[in-house]
Amino acid sequence: GSGEGEGVSVREMELLHPAIAPLEFLLGRWRGEGEGGFPTINSFRYGEELFFSHSGKPVIAYTQKTWKLESGEPMHAETGYWRLKSDGSIEVVIAQSTGLVELQKGSFDAENRTMELKSELIGNASKVKEIRRAFRVSDRELSYTVQMATHTTNLQSHLKAVLRQI
Ligand code: HEM
Repeated sequence: GSGEGEGVSVREMELLHPAIAPLEFLLGRWRGEGEGGFPTINSFRYGEELFFSHSGKPVIAYTQKTWKLESGEPMHAETGYWRLKSDGSIEVVIAQSTGLVELQKGSFDAENRTMELKSELIGNASKVKEIRRAFRVSDRELSYTVQMATHTTNLQSHLKAVLRQI
């Protein structure tokens, strides 16, 4: 390919590390649309792209960007790293474009290709107390939900989206 946009590894000859082989189905680029809301805000729709890659190390690199569907204007973005622990659990660190950082831990079901994550640490957040993320991959479709709790609102849905591998 001609650069980062194609393939799943920056150095395409790199072998997938066995520690992350169960997550191989995530690798590559996904694009789709989502909808957001929360009791305290107006609901909205957005476009989104996810990119999962590896470099031969036992970790998957993750980048996300979103945009307004009408204008293409950038919205939220985030980046991080996904790893599988030897006990089969999953751990994700994410830095958000808003300045918020999160450590997510949870479970991975290899058979159903589902992941359920709950924040163990959230840093530099003015409102957010907890974030839960759930992912499901089937065929070439990835769907997820994000729930959050803030200082004024208990755990409620903030985002849900469906993306297809491109
Ligand atoms: C509002 C957090 C992802 C778009 C908010 C608020 C919080 C928040 C705390 C304010 C809620 C309130 O005022 O009560 C988060 C967290 C995210 C996330 C923790 C990721 C885990 C996203 C993404 C998008 C987005 C991906 C866009 C695609 C918005 C919009 C608002 C909002 C448009 C309303 C802003 C406003 O009305 O001023 N978010 N957000 N958020 N979020 Fe998110």
